[in-house]
Amino acid sequence: MKSTSSIGAVKEKNSQQGLVSLLLISLFSCFLVFFLLFKQTTKDPYIERTLNLSGSIKNGSQLFRMNCVGCHGISAQGLVGPDLNKVTEELNDKKIIVQVVKGLTPPMPSFEMDSQSMADLLSYLHSLNNEE
Ligand code: HEC
Repeated sequence: MKSTSSIGAVKEKNSQQGLVSLLLISLFSCFLVFFLLFKQTTKDPYIERTLNLSGSIKNGSQLFRMNCVGCHGISAQGLVGPDLNKVTEELNDKKIIVQVVKGLTPPMPSFEMDSQSMADLLSYLHSLNNEE
């Protein structure tokens, strides 16, 4: 009984294999697309490192006085640059880091600082928001 249907079975097996590989290929392309999309939004290692550090408000305030007060004012009240007292409400940490290190909005320069200093600066900016 088995031997009579063997040719049909082979054919069926072949088309099943074709279907399976088609499925695998489409699955693979889906993964590829997701991977590429995901990769675009994955994180900059500098930003990641900075976000994982806890900053010191004291150091941050020193850094701010050295680098930022000329444009943002001694109490971050705003001069050439905008008031930063509520900036942590308006921008998330990632955006603030990008703002400081990437130099995308002239005349504000880009600052090259290590992640710890950046984390300190972030803590300082957060502390401004807590003071009323
Ligand atoms: C040469 C002047 C200058 C210096 C120095 C400067 N900034 Fe700025 N900053 C600006 C200007 C101008 C803007 C507005 C840019 C824009 O929105 O296009 C700005 C925008 C910002 C913003 C975004 C504010 C918002 O509401 O979008 C942040 C955060 C910021 N600065 C932080 C800093 C920090 C922290 C430092 C010091 C490390 C610094 N800036 C030093 C001029 C300066």
